Order: sequence, then structure tokens, then C-alpha cells
Amino acid sequence: MTEEGALGSEDIAIPGVDRTKPSIARTYDYLLGGKDNFAIDRALADRFIKDLPGSRAIAFDNRGVLTRAIREIAVNTPVRQFIDLGSGLPTADNVHQVAQRHAPESKVVYVDNDPVVLAHGRALLAENKYTTVFQADLRDSKSVYESPDTRALIDFDQPVAIILSAILHHLNDDEDPAALVRFWYERIPSGSYVFISHFRSENDPRSAQMQTLLQASLGRGRWRTDDEILALFGDGLTVLPPGLVPAAEWRPIEPPDELTVWERLIAAALAVKP
Ligand SMILES: C[S@@+](CC[C@H](N)C(=O)[O-])C[C@H]1O[C@@H](n2cnc3c(N)ncnc32)[C@H](O)[C@@H]1O
Repeated sequence: MTEEGALGSEDIAIPGVDRTKPSIARTYDYLLGGKDNFAIDRALADRFIKDLPGSRAIAFDNRGVLTRAIREIAVNTPVRQFIDLGSGLPTADNVHQVAQRHAPESKVVYVDNDPVVLAHGRALLAENKYTTVFQADLRDSKSVYESPDTRALIDFDQPVAIILSAILHHLNDDEDPAALVRFWYERIPSGSYVFISHFRSENDPRSAQMQTLLQASLGRGRWRTDDEILALFGDGLTVLPPGLVPAAEWRPIEPPDELTVWERLIAAALAVKP
């Protein structure tokens, strides 16, 4: 590993990677303290940290609620299949590690469009026959659903957990994130789950500032109100207690201290298909 991080020297070309543009996956990796990022990603993340000092807390709260939701599904439901859309770079406690810790037979499909995620995911999963990662655009739900990689592990006659963690806010309104959720809802059986975590606007000026910065740098980033986020679940899914709440308040292991205004800007909910 070099000073530049696990990706190595900034001069070495990686197929499909444009080092002149920040990537969502690598910028988020840096916010979480990871090493799989380039100077351009660190510069963007540092701008976030400087102008919007809660950025790191948002990233960590998001990972925390994701871990708790996966544990909840693995421990308290019979679901043993997970599709993680926009899975991100491997970090601590990835979905398959949490699920398989509690239910070793759990199968996990990771999907991301970032080639760096694919490279690192493959290395991490080389020995894990119940887990796979492949590169695809999650906006093309049909190709993800029909992919042989998905079909090799997931039986759509059995309940599935669809994981949409910190990804739907990277879809703009004209990309119709509600239609994406509906696509999966229509293909999973009763007893399946959908998890969503999402940037939450609460009409706070800081969310508007973050949105402007993300849109300018990455071309995407949409903070939504609670009603807008809940609408993404559609009519058929039942949102489970405690409903859509700030990520840190979703079934916490220990009651959190009073949340900072930043921590209120990321919300999460888990829903079941009755
Ligand atoms: C903020 S990260 C979230 C990672 C992880 N789900 C988590 O909650 O920690 C968003 C991820 O979605 C991926 N992503 C963004 N747009 C995508 C798309 N259209 N198709 C597939 N992956 C996408 C990015 O590469 C990145 O890894």
C-alpha cells in the first residue's frame, strides 16, 4: 500500500477509471476513513468536511444503520438472500459479513457501477461461494434482475432483502427512483424486505448547501423530505417500526445522544412486503 492509498500510485492507469473526476464510491470511502481513493476524491471530501463538518458523521451513521438492518433481517426473519444495489467499496462490516455472521447460509449479491468497487469486491469475495459482486448500472433494473450473476445466487420464489443504502439520493427525480423500487417490489415474494437510507432535507439550509456541492461535483445528489422518501416505498410495502427516522435513531443498540443537526440529514426505514 502506498501513501496514495490501496489503489496505488496516482500515475498507474486502471481500466475504466477516470482519475480527473471524483467518484461517489471513492469519496464516500475517504469519508469513512478508507484508503481506496484518489487525490481528486479526497479534495472533494475535504471540501465537504471543511464546509459541512457533519459529512463524516452522516457517512458513519449510514453504515451503522445498514449494519443494524442487516442484522435484524438475518436474526429475526427467515430471509437469507440479499441484493445490495450501489454497494460501495468494501469497508468494515460489509453486508455479507454481517448476514453470514448471524446466518452463514445467507447469499449476497453486490451491484455497483464503479470499476474500483468491482476490483476490490472480487478480491474480498474470492473465497466466498455464497457472495458475488458485479458491475452494472442499477438504474437498469431489468439487466440486474436478469443477470446470470444474480440468478446464480438468488431464487426469486424465496423472500429477498433489497438493500438501497445511500443510493436513491444519487438518482435525480427524472430517473424515477420510485419506479426502481416498484420494479423490485413486483418481483419479490411476500415476506421480502426493502431497506432504504436516504439524505433527508428537513428544509435545513445545510442540506441545500450539500445538495449544491454534490450536484456541482458529481452531477447528482437529491435531498428529499420525509414524505418524498416514504413515497419511494410505494403503496404495497409496509414500513416497520419505528418508521422513517434519522439513521442513528433506527433501532439503536444504545439510545443515541441528542443528534446533531447533521445527523438528522440521513434517514432510514425498513419495509416488508405483506
Ligand atoms: C454513497 S455510496 C453507498 C455505499 C453503500 N450502499 C453504503 O450505504 O455504505 C453509493 C454507491 O452507489 C454506487 N452507484 C452510484 N450510482 C450507481 C448506479 N447508477 N449504478 C450502480 N451503482 C451506483 C456508487 O459507485 C457508490 O459505490
